[in-house]
Amino acid sequence: MKRLPKLPTMTILPLLLTLVGGSAVHSQTDALMPKPASVRASEGRLAITGSFRVALTGYQEPRLDRAARRFVNQLSQFTGIPYLDRMMTDTSAATLVVHCEHAGEPVQAVGEDESYTLDVTPQQAQLNAPEPLGILRGLETFLQLVHEDREGFAVSVVRIEDRPRFPWRGLMLDAARHWMPLSVVYRTLDGMAAVKLNVFHWHLSDNQGFRVESKLFPKLQEMGSDGEYYTQEQVKEVIAYARDRGIRVVPEFDMPGHSTAWFVGYPDLASGPGPYQIERDWGIFDPAMDPTRESTYQFLDAFIGEMAALFPDAYFHIGGDEVNGKQWDANPRIRAFMQDHGLKSNADLQAYFNARVLALVQKHGKKMLGWDEVFHPGLPKNIVIQSWRGSETLAATARAGYMSILSNGYYLDLMQPASQLYSVDPLGGAAASLTPEEKARILGGEACMWSEFVTSEDVDSRMWPRTAAIAERLWSPEDVTDVKDMYRRLAIESRRLDFLGLQHRIGPALMCERLTGLEPAGTLATLDALLEPVKGYARERARHYNRLTPLNRLVDATPPESNVARKFAELVDDWNAHQEEIRQWLAKWQSNQARLAPLLDRSALLQEDIPLANEVSALAAAGLGAMDYLKSGKPAPQEWVAQQHTMLDQAAKPVAELTIAIQPAVRKLVDAAAQTRGAP
Ligand code: ACM
Repeated sequence: MKRLPKLPTMTILPLLLTLVGGSAVHSQTDALMPKPASVRASEGRLAITGSFRVALTGYQEPRLDRAARRFVNQLSQFTGIPYLDRMMTDTSAATLVVHCEHAGEPVQAVGEDESYTLDVTPQQAQLNAPEPLGILRGLETFLQLVHEDREGFAVSVVRIEDRPRFPWRGLMLDAARHWMPLSVVYRTLDGMAAVKLNVFHWHLSDNQGFRVESKLFPKLQEMGSDGEYYTQEQVKEVIAYARDRGIRVVPEFDMPGHSTAWFVGYPDLASGPGPYQIERDWGIFDPAMDPTRESTYQFLDAFIGEMAALFPDAYFHIGGDEVNGKQWDANPRIRAFMQDHGLKSNADLQAYFNARVLALVQKHGKKMLGWDEVFHPGLPKNIVIQSWRGSETLAATARAGYMSILSNGYYLDLMQPASQLYSVDPLGGAAASLTPEEKARILGGEACMWSEFVTSEDVDSRMWPRTAAIAERLWSPEDVTDVKDMYRRLAIESRRLDFLGLQHRIGPALMCERLTGLEPAGTLATLDALLEPVKGYARERARHYNRLTPLNRLVDATPPESNVARKFAELVDDWNAHQEEIRQWLAKWQSNQARLAPLLDRSALLQEDIPLANEVSALAAAGLGAMDYLKSGKPAPQEWVAQQHTMLDQAAKPVAELTIAIQPAVRKLVDAAAQTRGAP
């Protein structure tokens, strides 16, 4: 443990400001997220007043006009200043002059120029970009720069030159397992635009649901969706909305596995006898498309043709993951086919299927994208592989000549802290040893929001703000890796996202309120702020979940990462300088128990959390005891230390799929108290 000399009390004030929620200044040149490639800040400010005006010059298109109007509306939202007459053509009188050099691609392409420069002087700001995409990115940067100081709202004088590190920066949303209504999709796109992500990967079909209207095969949605699907008109509107924000929409139709929902209406596509029902459980299931029948490819030809026309993006994701092969093994006709065609394994059979599907995807003018499992020496090199199983696969695919994107390490459903997501680099791990030519095949990465354990109610709290940390990894220079600074800026960006209508902060708060009924929610929120859901795949191991399990418990209202615990751990790492604060926090958690206990006791849903509350109370007492011993300068008695360790070990075990995130820091205090040789 670090032991710094005692600091004067003055230093506590700025720290307190940080602790109570982001820095005192809303947004500044050092608040940008993702961090630009180059920022040169100078003295001075450009005032943002009621006379703020934007002028668009150079290449013009309606998308830019809409972007400028949206920008001014957001500016108005951030400042509270109304802007009615906000567009002008007179560049000399404009506050922000936007200059776009030329048009971009009619359908946004991978690697299209997203660069921009933003020059802010005390008189005027100038945003320049070769293409509209750069203008969109630069406008987001400008919004992040707006802050309030003693004189009013302003943007600091700065010159920013910016461009992304990777061309493919995505977020995958699983709308198949739990239905994600359009409101979720739209606000997800808003969040993505704010942090400069450029690919919305829409996971549209799985065992538990088929989520897009097909006019050619209407039984897909009629029988495979419980009525929860997007119409083609709605899809078109989403795509237009995304394009306005510089975001590509890549559809995924998972095949040949993860496809039970297709078979409810079209059982002949499957490799085993029907009938089929929409799957309600989570996991990997036996049903898979029959790769041996020509009728399968006739169906897919027509279906892919229909979807290729609906989704303009160049890429079409065929899934391809987790085929267990059981239906193939069980079908004598399929086994005979394999023998006739020299296919030695189910992987070979799937590669045969993939090659046939690839031909269809290409016939309809698209490039193919698939998960790791489509990586097979038999396939041509013009497909993109999305690596979810490890950086080794990513490196192997790049070495073998395939383009790839990384998702392993970016699974938002696994509840890892932002610091861990942030540490994953597409060119790190096994990919670090690739040649420059091989590295160039790694296009970027995608955060993945699988939806077994999220609904529209809490999905935002699993995506945000952590996705902003991944967005920075994919946009900013490789050497932007300072975790503490990332968290500082993440707190600022999180509030901005809140302003934009994302529900990552309000969602959990409302769920806590529902759990507390008519009691004040603060009591439960105080406990909840110290908790984290279990990580990795621990939740699905804890009990049986399926599509019908209510996700209405405290674990569902608990964000993936406890900011309070992280900040408390920082205080404890320097406990000598923060003794009063540590005591105050511990005392607050301890005294919360008197109000919390009856509240938990009267609720069916909160019964399971009673041990957590008791343990937090015991942890707080242990921490306060440790602080007393530390202050006394005498080591804590061995017997006391042993008792605390027993309690700490108990408190380290998950309860109700939650862990107490302050437990490790309290353990540090206890261990420090056991060893103390006297406070300096
Ligand atoms: C996956 O997680 N099965 C792609």
